[in-house]
Amino acid sequence: MSETAKLTYAGQTYELPIIEGSEGERAVDISRLRADTGLITLDIGYGNTGSCTSTITFMNGEEGILRYRGIPVEQLAEHSSFVETAYLLIHGELPNQKELNRFSILLNDASLVHEDLKIFYSNFPRLSHPMGILSSMVNALRSFYPELQTLEEEIDMTVTRLLSKVRTMAAMSYKMSRGHTVVYPRPDLSYCANFLNMMFDSPVRPYEVDDVLAEALNIFWILHADHEQNCSTSAVRMVGSGRVNLYAAISAGIAALWGPLHGGANQSVVEMLQDIDASGRGFQHYVDRAKDRNDPFRLMGFGHRVYKAYDPRAKIIKAMCDRVLAKLKISDPLLDLAKELEAVALKDAYFIDHNLYPNVDFYSGIILRAMGIPTNMFTVMFAIGRLPGWIAQWKESMDDPNWRLCRPRQIYTGPRETNYVPIEERP
Ligand code: SDX
Repeated sequence: MSETAKLTYAGQTYELPIIEGSEGERAVDISRLRADTGLITLDIGYGNTGSCTSTITFMNGEEGILRYRGIPVEQLAEHSSFVETAYLLIHGELPNQKELNRFSILLNDASLVHEDLKIFYSNFPRLSHPMGILSSMVNALRSFYPELQTLEEEIDMTVTRLLSKVRTMAAMSYKMSRGHTVVYPRPDLSYCANFLNMMFDSPVRPYEVDDVLAEALNIFWILHADHEQNCSTSAVRMVGSGRVNLYAAISAGIAALWGPLHGGANQSVVEMLQDIDASGRGFQHYVDRAKDRNDPFRLMGFGHRVYKAYDPRAKIIKAMCDRVLAKLKISDPLLDLAKELEAVALKDAYFIDHNLYPNVDFYSGIILRAMGIPTNMFTVMFAIGRLPGWIAQWKESMDDPNWRLCRPRQIYTGPRETNYVPIEERP
């Protein structure tokens, strides 16, 4: 009999199985709790609840560890490419040269989008947020590519189509939002270089892809590629559990990522730093505000539900900021501000006691600004990076024979039974 946890309730003792993961994490399996005891559990925000078992990404929040399919993210950032890391996440192992070549060809062949999609873009109000556009456009892809995802190779086609087209659609929405000519993907450019070219090339000023920026984007997207059961990935799994098509599930993930507590934080960090800079008040004023429970202000880019140590991705991005800006011979006052703010916060007892460190979003805006990405597209950049993770997690759930419709329960605290009152008898 494997180890169990004992629950004593209403004079009875129940043995709940303990399951252990490959890294020693342990959970009480409550799959039979309601059937055996009539009880459910309550865990607002799911901070103590595992929604699935997964073989894709391992995080250790106390030690600041992040691995994709067992490989430390630091090694992937140093040696891999975003396309290769996407393959690793989705297929479960690093590709050999033949597999990588085929994957790259599929991505290239699927990089164009249906010309009719441009009609959608031209009907969004000019100031629409790019995340709202992206979520809508990804959902619309189903209308253009309605084939059923039954056979493995069709899923492979759908997956590479999505990975390739989302990048094209993001650049297209940027160009059309400025009333500029849309730039098409080029077969001679890598995934990252192609995106930069589609964003910034123009008939009157040809864009020369800077290798430093293409490499920085490669690392940026590798670092964002997956993060186990975060809010947006859980949205993809939840929506996908109803057996809806992949495009709709990913569209839900994009919507979930948009929030400033989640992926939208990378935009909020830069806006916060700009506000702090413009206010002329010292950092301590804002650190004190962040500590005040009566003040809704939070230090954006700080804190994490899982990491109670420095987010390993933030470490890499922070170092990348120095390297990239030095290579480009540019300076960004917001980088100095961010470093000073970090120094003040990390010395403050409140931040130390609450284990609040910079997360992936704290420095990422600096890199994106160096690339020339507009602030309102920062979360779109996060979404493109997270796409292989969402797809891998969706695929794992669809392939899992034990996966079922996600349908949490609740504890009802509303009014007891009462009767309908005709309107003429109401006060
Ligand atoms: C991402 O889950 C993932 O993996 C997400 C992500 C991914 O790759 O998918 O890593 C990407 O979303 C990173 C997080 C980006 N969000 C932000 O930077 C927004 C600012 N951070 C906070 O809002 C907060 O830290 C959260 C939302 C990220 C996490 O919050 P939790 O886990 O719900 O914790 P909490 O809000 O209950 O805070 C616990 C305590 C509270 O103080 P007490 O009431 O216990 O005294 O910590 C305090 C909070 O007030 N706190 C902060 C703070 N974050 C938490 N205080 C000031 N500033 C902050 N940023």
